[in-house]
Amino acid sequence: MPIKSRIRTIPHYPHEGIMFRDVTTLLKDAVGLRTTIQEIVNRYRTSNIDIVVGIESRGFIIGAPVAYALGVGFVPIRKPGKLPAETIGCDYQLEYGSDRIEIHTDAIRKGERILLVDDLIATGGTMEAAVKLIQEIGGEIIECCFVVDLPEVGGRDRLEKQGQKVFALCQFEGS
Ligand code: PRP
Ligand code: MG
Repeated sequence: MPIKSRIRTIPHYPHEGIMFRDVTTLLKDAVGLRTTIQEIVNRYRTSNIDIVVGIESRGFIIGAPVAYALGVGFVPIRKPGKLPAETIGCDYQLEYGSDRIEIHTDAIRKGERILLVDDLIATGGTMEAAVKLIQEIGGEIIECCFVVDLPEVGGRDRLEKQGQKVFALCQFEGS
């Protein structure tokens, strides 16, 4: 398990009872980083992806090298107020409070084949908001791709019920 074994778990972070799955230990490891990107790239090599979209901030770390290796462009979905041109945004719920992500309205052309990338799926709220943004500007989402899935939290089910395809390199049980 070259990927899962390199992800560190921090108990009780950021709250009591939460097992934080920390990908920084995977990313700093040369074999871990290369294997992670390579496995994602191999999966989509023949999928005719036009654009990889990554979600700020940890989704950038995974998404940009995947785009580079696939030979396609990278588009960022960013936290509010960071993108300089015309944007659309989507609000989503967190455990405590809410957050918002935004994308440039001209970042994707209608019908382009999009690979959505983030490091981890928990509730799926972040990716659900990203899916809405891509759909609003007319992209065709090929798959939502993650390094880590926390199936017990329910994000994968939530996205799949909405008709999205979901892929993760590894899963962790126990939250
Ligand atoms: C984390 C993680 C995912 C999201 C997953 O990002 O990187 O983007 O939460 O949670 P969800 O499936 O319940 O929405 P976070 O918002 O902590 O910010 P960061 O990527 O900037 O660290
Ligand atoms: Mg994130």
